[in-house]
Amino acid sequence: MRRTIVVVFFMFQCFSFNVKGFGLSYNFYEKSCPQVEDIVRNGLQPIFLTDPTSASALLRLMFHDCQVQGCDASILVDPGNGNEATEMASSKNLGIRKREIVSMVKSMVEAQCPQQVSCADILILAAREAVAVTGGPRIKVPLGRRDSSHAPSHRLPDALLPPATAGVSEMLNIFTNKGMNLEESVAVLGAHTLGITHCSNLQNRLYGRNNDELRGMEPGFAAFLRLTCQKGPLTSNLSFVLNDPTPFSFDNEYYVNAMRGRGVLKIDAEMVSNPKTAHVMKHFSMNEADFFRAFSSAFVKLSRYGVLTGKQGVIRKNCNQLS
Ligand code: HEM
Repeated sequence: MRRTIVVVFFMFQCFSFNVKGFGLSYNFYEKSCPQVEDIVRNGLQPIFLTDPTSASALLRLMFHDCQVQGCDASILVDPGNGNEATEMASSKNLGIRKREIVSMVKSMVEAQCPQQVSCADILILAAREAVAVTGGPRIKVPLGRRDSSHAPSHRLPDALLPPATAGVSEMLNIFTNKGMNLEESVAVLGAHTLGITHCSNLQNRLYGRNNDELRGMEPGFAAFLRLTCQKGPLTSNLSFVLNDPTPFSFDNEYYVNAMRGRGVLKIDAEMVSNPKTAHVMKHFSMNEADFFRAFSSAFVKLSRYGVLTGKQGVIRKNCNQLS
């Protein structure tokens, strides 16, 4: 009996040590770099002003980092030093850009707090700023992530990132695995309130067999999409459509637009007709505050996914290089 109590006590100690000492926390850099959030915000301000497309790029960059091997900044690693085909070589990362912004902010952070703050945390903070600066909620995020010390090949993103043809069940599978409930899973897709979709990602939707996906679309919008995105493999990477009518504003227009039959991607449209998600889409289209609340908690859950903490991983000095 005494031995059992000792073992249970020991396990409890280990557990609480793990949670308090090694997990993420809201005051992680209190002593080592208390000004980190200000450095990131101030560093990004001129970038957001001069290039309004950078907010959407940073938000998607966060998802594509977290979805592959967890939020560990592995997507930032450049080829070289034995890593020839890194994550960016995956076709699923088409359109991923602005990785250099995270490196630039990291060098600002390094100048004030050398070797303290991970690229993984800076990437999450940058995505959080992207949401706030475009009019979305200001999300409080726990910090203390560490960076991966190896970079996966393109095969991992090939397998793990959802294709442009993903539907509701694939989407729910991805996000419920990260601890999100139904509302949060629908809310996290509200990230598509920002940015663009390249025409090459719409070929199946617009020119698929039987025109299945065009049937649920508002006819004027279907005609517009087909006019903008011509059929064929020559569709250049320069042709794209806006994800919603206000692509620089984080608002609930994505839901309003989808409810009108103007969802750009298959998932955007399918969530309106699927009986599991339809009522949540309708609710968010009418209540922006509830969307913001659900998005904020979904964002934090995504940002915690598969993180390295404590003695795991490293703090990279240069985000693009493993050492
Ligand atoms: C099943 C889930 C998802 C699918 C199938 C999906 C698919 C896509 C596709 C195909 C694009 C167009 C990319 C391009 O052509 O350049 C896109 C854009 C975008 N996605 Fe998603 N996405 C999903 C979830 C998410 C999540 C969770 C986030 C962020 C939290 C996100 C943020 C974005 C943003 C901001 C853009 C616009 C990027 C830009 O303007 O460069 N997506 N998504």
